[in-house]
Amino acid sequence: MIPPALSSSPHAPATPAEAGALEALVRRRRATPKFLPEPVPAEDIDHALRVAAEAPSGYNFQPWRYLVLRSPERRAKLRQAAFDQEKITEAPLVIVATAHREAWRQAADEILRTQAQRTGRDPADTQKIEKAKASAFAFIDQLPREVWLTRQVMIGFTYLMLAFESLGWDTAPMEGFDAAAVRDALGLPPDTEVVALLAVGRGAEPAKRHPGRLPIERIAYDENDGAPWRPVSES
Ligand SMILES: Cc1cc2nc3c(=O)[nH]c(=O)nc-3n(C[C@H](O)[C@H](O)[C@H](O)COP(=O)(O)O)c2cc1C
Repeated sequence: MIPPALSSSPHAPATPAEAGALEALVRRRRATPKFLPEPVPAEDIDHALRVAAEAPSGYNFQPWRYLVLRSPERRAKLRQAAFDQEKITEAPLVIVATAHREAWRQAADEILRTQAQRTGRDPADTQKIEKAKASAFAFIDQLPREVWLTRQVMIGFTYLMLAFESLGWDTAPMEGFDAAAVRDALGLPPDTEVVALLAVGRGAEPAKRHPGRLPIERIAYDENDGAPWRPVSES
């Protein structure tokens, strides 16, 4: 079940405890290099997928698809397509975040109608739905498809990673793979974008040290590009 806070009014201010819990989770997470074989219960996978499904996406089109791999044989095949990264067979669970280059269009009607119904508009107003769809498709079609898909999928992927972390699991995100080889190894349709892999399990070693981050005055600008953001509080 998604905790009620996730589906309650978005206008309710977050409590300091909620803000603190998110920050603690984010600060605690490390990319885990080695995993124990302890399996991840299916209920926890359900939970993380439900949280990931809550991610926002352009036009709410939700083009992400998650391939859940628990079978050692399937993960062994994936490892061969991912530069032989050990974590893929060590961790009991790997999720392959993908998107189909065209199939996301098929859910557009359903999504736009549901949205109309839930926001008090007429879901049977086909003309309006068609107009909204045409305008959305026109915007999306003028972007390189992999740019648009990656933009969406990485948000869902991040929600997924943090959801597992919130349940006490360790994770390792991966971009080190050959997408064509992954499609081949797992029998994915040729129009599948393979966006990222997430290994999930119990870390085998004491938590890795924090590798450091650039300070916010280096990564954020105040109004003008290059004008550093000046922090008003201690980090
Ligand atoms: C999108 C993405 C792809 C990554 N790909 C790999 C990978 O293929 N192999 C790997 O060992 N680590 C990979 N990492 C882990 C990063 O190296 C790691 O997140 C980074 O060094 C910061 O360390 P931290 O996550 O522990 O803070 C990836 C991380 C991200 C976010």
